Amino acid sequence: MGLILGIETSCDETSVALVEDGRRVLSNVIHTQVEVHREFGGVVPELAARDHLVRLPSLIDLAFEKAGAKPAEVDLLAVTRGPGLVGCLLVGAGVGEGLAAAWAKPLTGVNHLWGHIYAAMLSRQDLEPPLLGLVVSGAHSDLVRMPEHGRFEVIGRTRDDAAGEAFDKAARMLGLGFPGGPALDRLARQGDARRQPLPKPSLEGLEYSFSGLKTALLYRLRDLGGSMTDQDRADLAASFERSVVESLLEKLDKALAAEPCSEVVVAGGVAANTLLRRRAAEVVADRARLTMPPLELCTDNAAMIAAAGFYGARHPADVDPSLGWS
Ligand code: KG4
Ligand code: ZN
Repeated sequence: MGLILGIETSCDETSVALVEDGRRVLSNVIHTQVEVHREFGGVVPELAARDHLVRLPSLIDLAFEKAGAKPAEVDLLAVTRGPGLVGCLLVGAGVGEGLAAAWAKPLTGVNHLWGHIYAAMLSRQDLEPPLLGLVVSGAHSDLVRMPEHGRFEVIGRTRDDAAGEAFDKAARMLGLGFPGGPALDRLARQGDARRQPLPKPSLEGLEYSFSGLKTALLYRLRDLGGSMTDQDRADLAASFERSVVESLLEKLDKALAAEPCSEVVVAGGVAANTLLRRRAAEVVADRARLTMPPLELCTDNAAMIAAAGFYGARHPADVDPSLGWS
């Protein structure tokens, strides 16, 4: 039982949420820094950290106002401890520590990757482990088994780029702005992947690799040169997206076949991708129940951090930018 205040500042979204009993979102305010970083074509860590610090106080007030709750009612504070940008994590952890001391409340540090999985539990009230999860974000493409709350076993990861990183880099090559993933998603809707086939990365086992695909796109763009039309660009976006999505799902399919599991979760920023959402449902089909959080819970947010804090509260709040799933 309890009211959890979640704080997320690991990258370029500042978010504060109030969640009841790890499942019910009372408020989840998210401020995205897209405008701060756009002119640089990517996230600038120092600017991101400073913006978190500027925004957090008013976002905290807003989260309480929207939830109709007061600090005295909070039972636990949960802040993202890692992985993430160290300066950004420090801001969230520092503010969390300050509030916990001032309000005399306990504080826990939350693994951001756990958070992405717990986002699925906010959207499906009866979802419980054991589950098979695919977490695809800007920095991770991890296949995990979750046997029980607070326990994760990584069974597959990427050797090089994460899926989100691959989308962002491909978007840059295609001349799309920042943030790249959503822009590539939109452009791909106007393209036909069959007109510009690209290889589908395929490694042994459950490992991913997207660097070869990125190079293939680079060569194709070089070959097309000045003759490239807008339709070519859309077709290439669709083809790149198809290769990434099919590669992600091929391993998910393999893992599910090797060890059946009745619950599958696909989460993280890339889980907002239109094709991934459609194809994941087709690939999992009736072998398991698939949960993909709604778009606003796929990308970074504090409600998922509060939920993970509720179920897995056992870490200190110290920041650890390189944290894996531990
Ligand atoms: O989970 P997230 O919000 O932040 C991290 O923890 O990294 O994921 C951000 C990543 C970015 O690489 C972004 O381009 C990608 O998710 N992304 C998408 C889409 N929306 C966000 N990639 C493809 N299609 C989308 N619709
Ligand atoms: Zn994330």
